Amino acid sequence: MSPAPLVAASILSADFTRLGEELRAVEAAGVDWHHLDVMDGHFVPNLTFGPLVVAAAKRASTRFLDVHLMIADPLTYGLECAKAGADLVSFHYEATAHVHRVLTALREAGARTGLALNPATPVEVLEPVLNYVDLVVIMSVNPGFAAQKLIPETPDKVRRLKKLLAGRIDRNILIEVDGGVSAGNARELVLAGADVLVSGSQIFGAPDYGAAVAALKA
Ligand code: DX5
Ligand code: ZN
Repeated sequence: MSPAPLVAASILSADFTRLGEELRAVEAAGVDWHHLDVMDGHFVPNLTFGPLVVAAAKRASTRFLDVHLMIADPLTYGLECAKAGADLVSFHYEATAHVHRVLTALREAGARTGLALNPATPVEVLEPVLNYVDLVVIMSVNPGFAAQKLIPETPDKVRRLKKLLAGRIDRNILIEVDGGVSAGNARELVLAGADVLVSGSQIFGAPDYGAAVAALKA
């Protein structure tokens, strides 16, 4: 038996005309965190929202806000998102030459930190900065869009990360998997070592949010 994972609902697939209601609905359905995908049209070929929507989510919810920056300037907007109420700010290793600087600045601003890795980035790059990271996001799709298919090498990558984290550090660093997560692959991801499963389309696209969340946790 593996422990039930935390489930983070990606609001990218929510109905933005009713964001507050959607947040409450997925909370009632059993999600643990809200996952907010910030995209800038540079680092990824899509545009979403920024600190304004993070602040709106903060007003509408008391749940943990997990902000995922897919942007070329994580320092400026990461600090803005922390100020707007993000509990954790993740940014991409590939987005900046100054990973350590951004991690330390976010921590000084009081946010927890996450580092996201694109599918082609090996987990070993994390080693020098593990002391500054609370969560690692393993991208299981190429970032930018919801409702893609999970890249099949993902469980192996999660296992490699789990091994890298084991015994290295006394802090518990969470492993999050983001993209293409479904009831059909959740079990394998959790057995591989995932602590947090992000899901957008599988929850918000389901007729019954509660059943969708239960299927991810089962
Ligand atoms: C992809 C985003 C994901 C995405 C997940 O770039 O980071 O968080 O919204 O959506 P699904 O679960 O539909 O793949
Ligand atoms: Zn995301």
